[in-house]
Amino acid sequence: MPPEPTDRRSFLRTLVGAAVAGPALVRAEAAQAAVPRTARASQEAYLLDPGLTYLNHASIGTVPRTVHEAHRAYLELCESHPSLYVWGEPWRVATEETRTAAAALLGAEGDDLAITHNTTEGFNVLAHGLPLEAGDEVLFSSLNHGGASMPWRGQARRRGFTVRRFDFPVEQAPELTSDEVVELHRRALSPETRVLVVPHVDNQVGLRHPLPELAAMARSEGVRWVLVDGAQSAGMLPVDLAASGVDAYAMSPHKWIQSPKGLGLFWTRPELRRLVPAFWYRTAMSRHDSARRYEDYSTRAWPAVVALGDAVAFQRALGPDETARRHRAIRRRIQDRVASEPRLSWRSPGSWALGSAIVSVRVEGHPAAELGPELLQDHNIVVRAFGGPLDHLRLSPHVATPDAQIDAALDLLAAR
Ligand SMILES: Cc1ncc(COP(=O)(O)O)c(C=O)c1O
Repeated sequence: MPPEPTDRRSFLRTLVGAAVAGPALVRAEAAQAAVPRTARASQEAYLLDPGLTYLNHASIGTVPRTVHEAHRAYLELCESHPSLYVWGEPWRVATEETRTAAAALLGAEGDDLAITHNTTEGFNVLAHGLPLEAGDEVLFSSLNHGGASMPWRGQARRRGFTVRRFDFPVEQAPELTSDEVVELHRRALSPETRVLVVPHVDNQVGLRHPLPELAAMARSEGVRWVLVDGAQSAGMLPVDLAASGVDAYAMSPHKWIQSPKGLGLFWTRPELRRLVPAFWYRTAMSRHDSARRYEDYSTRAWPAVVALGDAVAFQRALGPDETARRHRAIRRRIQDRVASEPRLSWRSPGSWALGSAIVSVRVEGHPAAELGPELLQDHNIVVRAFGGPLDHLRLSPHVATPDAQIDAALDLLAAR
């Protein structure tokens, strides 16, 4: 039996203390009470169209029904008294509960975590704020996503530091070892490299970068900051930022934590925050030393922020280790099938230790750029196609994807 999740009605109870309780709150509590309180890794727990084989959680995630219901209840509450509920004060306690719970999921402290809008925003804060000068270099590999690369390029033009991207031998991904991944990064460093940016899990082949080893290597070579794009890790795999040795981690919880869209989590070490100033300026600035300084927004979507807490509670109820076990089993199923089919080839890391729930498969003789749209149009199967030299289909199922859907998708690919 899966464990019972945290009772999310406590969020609404805290609102009672902070706000003027009224009929709308009673309605919202009733809506919450109607929601089943068991987190299940089954298709019925989600809103996905059952006729759709959705293997694209790495692009856009999906929200569990319970999280959606909670979000809707908060939205209704908000609309019942807009000026009271939009300006934030009534949500303050619930937001702090959300922050603490999200931080625990990342192996971090709440004071080090900002609730932002997305991964890209975290990297904008870093690229604008880190003290870099002409001669300093920011380095990342070709596996780095644009959201964690482009902010540096934009700022480099203005401030004169250098940005360099090295080619990661992605075609070797199936054979690479952890030591080789670290060595590839070490060889790419230059004496000027001050910042190393890595994806925790990249979005092309799903390589899980060995963070503690990379961070230790980079520091021993004189790199000042190791910054991580976590868009594809927390919620999919257990994350332990305290043990990671990195300085900052930005992510988008809509993918694998399955929160409402339009939210981000941005973790920073206190030492880095002393150097990176607040990013937003508003009418009444609050002065925070904590990571809250990076979310000093004015009007914001509080219902979504609080519903992020429900998503975290759902994930914790599933259990990060249990979720990882399920992702590992799904991956194994795909890997074994691909190995048994002469026309299919596996393009992701070979081992689970370097792998993830993102897997890449090439169908020999069939360009991915043609196959991807065909799968959607003719079979209602959603994958991401990477064209060009990569030429593979990226499959990113999640914990509740039925085996039968995965098998049927592979049957189709194998029969090409
Ligand atoms: C690895 C990675 N980094 C960053 C991003 C950008 O995320 P966002 O658009 O939420 O900032 C994505 C989005 O797919 C991604 O896969």
